[in-house]
Amino acid sequence: MIVAGLDVGTTSVKGLALDTDDGRVVASAEEGYPFDTPRPGWAEQDPELWWRGSERVLSALSAAAGGDGLGGIGLSGQMHGLVALDSADEVLRPALLWNDQRTAAEAREIEERLGGLEALVRVTGNRSLTGFTAPKLLWMAHHEPELYARIAHVLLPKDYVRLRLCGEHATDVTDASGTLWFDVGKRRWSDTVLDALEVDPAWLPPAEESGVVSGTTPGGVPVAAGAGDQGAGALGVGVDRPGPVSVVLGTSGVVLAGLPAYAAEPEGRVQASCHALPGAWFGMGVILSAAGSLRWLRDVTGDVAFGGLDAEAEKWGPGAEGLTFLPYLTGERTPHFDPGARGAFAGLTVRHDRGALARSVLEGVAFGMRDALDLVASLGGHPRVGRVSGGGAKSDLWMRIMASVLELPLERVAVDEGAAYGAALLGGIAGGAWAKAEEAVQACVRTKATVD
Ligand code: XUL
Repeated sequence: MIVAGLDVGTTSVKGLALDTDDGRVVASAEEGYPFDTPRPGWAEQDPELWWRGSERVLSALSAAAGGDGLGGIGLSGQMHGLVALDSADEVLRPALLWNDQRTAAEAREIEERLGGLEALVRVTGNRSLTGFTAPKLLWMAHHEPELYARIAHVLLPKDYVRLRLCGEHATDVTDASGTLWFDVGKRRWSDTVLDALEVDPAWLPPAEESGVVSGTTPGGVPVAAGAGDQGAGALGVGVDRPGPVSVVLGTSGVVLAGLPAYAAEPEGRVQASCHALPGAWFGMGVILSAAGSLRWLRDVTGDVAFGGLDAEAEKWGPGAEGLTFLPYLTGERTPHFDPGARGAFAGLTVRHDRGALARSVLEGVAFGMRDALDLVASLGGHPRVGRVSGGGAKSDLWMRIMASVLELPLERVAVDEGAAYGAALLGGIAGGAWAKAEEAVQACVRTKATVD
């Protein structure tokens, strides 16, 4: 059976078609789009862009599937974004995205309304992050009361694509976990939070388990509830249970571990989430500028490819003669939770060149990831191996530095296609190729050589 997975991302929608016999990717497609920053710290996107991109990607993938067509579709996407709809399902305003930072006051207000940080973590498993959905809705209540009064439905980004694709309002438990309206331990919307924030429960869609059929396309293809990009990505690298920890080196960096049982870090310094398979949870730490830090260095220091930067960095030993980089170029989540945190180089001398700066960036990011790993590991025992994915995983030097700083052997996966791959596995479950996520992972996910 050929199934499709979509990742409705921040800069593009990526899709792939997968053969459920062996996990091979038989086709892929991508459609890019911009996002707007109408004011410093704001980030918005027109949901219509997601839908138009998804339509084009899906039609390319359906064509590649040939005569039998697609057997199932799985959706994943950027988490936390707020899509507010009126009673006719019309979009009321551009979506506020996960990386929008306008809601510091609302994030604080939510913590107060719930009776403080500890009480909030007890109910939701999480602290009130500016990126989460609940503070965005409260911001609308405070700043756009006329629009707020017209809200009839609230959806997350990939769920808007589902609405257009099969006419259903639905979400899944992993994406719901990133709203702050969800009781992650009990896998259902939290009445306590909805009461405290005066959110009408009728606005929220049912939160399904990820592999469940949430609707069908007009052509009759079953569409899985799906998962937020992190849960889907973890599934795609075979992190479906406690064992290997997923280490993602994309623009942001993520350390994600399956938990033996639901657990929350007492100060909410680990994002607690339902996983994309029933009865499973994960904890994750997110650093905001991982490969993004390296891209920044490349862009500001002139014309050089990533491979060239790596070769220059290779000439320096560990520590690059006392040079330290703090990777907080866009503020930081784990472990500081401070949108105002800033990056820095410290210990510069005239001997340092671009290679030294590059080495220091690779190391600084690795230590940021170590901070995240230590917190995540505090919830469920120290992992013995990491599974690395994302653009940064292509660098051998970075892999060696990461393995040394994390004190973990690191494996790469044979197919590194991010969240779209995990979404396709969920599409396969919805289409009946597998009964559960564990079977999909076993059939499709392979690892490559380990870096010690
Ligand atoms: C997770 C997070 C990002 C977004 C955008 O908490 O903020 O992964 O989902 O990709």
